[in-house]
Amino acid sequence: MLAAYAARIDPEDPLSALEVGDVPQPEPPAGWVTVDVRAAALNHHDVWSLRGIGLPEERLPMVLGCDAAGVDPDGNEVIVHCVVSDPDWRGDETLDPKMSLLSEIHPGTLAERVAVPARNLVPKPAGLSFEDAACLPTAWLTAYRMLFVRGALAPGETVLVQGAGGGVASAAIALGHAAGLRVWATSRDERKRDLALELGAAAAFEAGARLPERVDAVIETVGEATWKHSVRSLKPGGRLVVAGGTSGLQPPAELPHVFFRQLNVLGSTMGTLEELRQLVSMLEVTGLRPRIDRTIPLADAAEGFAAMIAGDLLGKVVLRVDR
Ligand SMILES: NC(=O)c1ccc[n+]([C@@H]2O[C@H](COP(=O)([O-])OP(=O)(O)OC[C@H]3O[C@@H](n4cnc5c(N)ncnc54)[C@H](OP(=O)(O)O)[C@@H]3O)[C@@H](O)[C@H]2O)c1
Repeated sequence: MLAAYAARIDPEDPLSALEVGDVPQPEPPAGWVTVDVRAAALNHHDVWSLRGIGLPEERLPMVLGCDAAGVDPDGNEVIVHCVVSDPDWRGDETLDPKMSLLSEIHPGTLAERVAVPARNLVPKPAGLSFEDAACLPTAWLTAYRMLFVRGALAPGETVLVQGAGGGVASAAIALGHAAGLRVWATSRDERKRDLALELGAAAAFEAGARLPERVDAVIETVGEATWKHSVRSLKPGGRLVVAGGTSGLQPPAELPHVFFRQLNVLGSTMGTLEELRQLVSMLEVTGLRPRIDRTIPLADAAEGFAAMIAGDLLGKVVLRVDR
C-alpha cells in the first residue's frame, strides 16, 4: 500500500528523510482493527519524527502520521484517536506512562490503511467531511484540552495564542472564539495575523508586541521564540499552558516573573478519547470547521511537509487517499 514514511533520520534536513512509496499492509494484533484511511492530516510531530525526536533509528522505516479519518471494517465512518495506551490502563489515557502516539511505536496514519486499537475509534458525524475530521485528533484535540481542560478557561476570559498560523494555534483561536473567550493572537507574519482575525481573534499583534493589558492565560506551542513574551503577558495568577516548542525547547526560565506573579505553568499533551468525542460534538453544535491550508493527494505528501517545515501554512495540510 502507499504510505509516507521516515526512511532515515535527518535532524538538519528532515525532508530528505521522507519517502512516499509502497510499504507492507498493516497487521492488526488482537483487539486492533484496520481502518481504510480517506484523509490524514500533517502535524509538526511528523517533522520531529523525521528529525529523530521521539523516533529512534531502530524503529525505521516508520509510517508517519497521527491523524486520520476513514472507514472501519464494518463500514462505519470513523475518526482515529491516535493515543495508544496500555490495554489495562484506566482513566486519562494521556497520563499512561506507556502511552505512545501512532507513528512512534506503531505505524502511523499517512497511508492507505492503518491498524488501531478498536477502542480508539470515534464515530464521524455525517455532517463532517473526512478532510475536516482528519484535522481533529492531534492539533484540534490538543488545542481543546489546552483551553478547556488544562487551562480551564471560562467564557469572557482573555487568552493569548502565540504563533497564529500553526495547526494547534489556529485551532485554539477558532475554538476559543466559539466558546466565548476574548482571543488575542500573535504572529510574525501579517497574512497570519489577518487569518487570526478571520478565525475570530478579537485582535492580532506582531510577535513580541506589548499588549493593551495582561491576559488570563496563554496558549504556547512556539517555545523559545515566544516564551519570554508569554510569561510577561500574564496577569498575576495567570495560566501558561504549554504543549510544544516549534522554535526551540530551551526557553529562558524567567523565574522571577513565574514566582513573584504566582503564575501557573501547565503542561498539556494531546487529549483523551472522551475529549475527542466532546470536540466532535462541539463542532457539530457550533458548525465550526478546521481551517485547511491545502488538501493534496497522499502521493504528494512531500509538498505538504516542505510547506510545514518552511512555516508557511495558514491552517492544516490534509492528505487525501484516493481510491
Ligand atoms: N504536546 C502535544 O500533545 C502536542 C500536540 C500537538 C502539537 N504539539 C507541538 O506544538 C508545536 C506546534 O505544532 P503544530 O502542529 O501546530 O505546528 P505548526 O503548524 O508547524 O506551527 C507552526 C507555527 O509555529 C510558529 N513558529 C515556528 N517557528 C517559529 C519561530 N522561530 N519563531 C516564532 N514562531 C515560530 C509559527 O507561527 P507564526 O508564523 O504565526 O508566527 C508557525 O505558524 C510543535 O512543536 C508540536 O510538536 C504538541
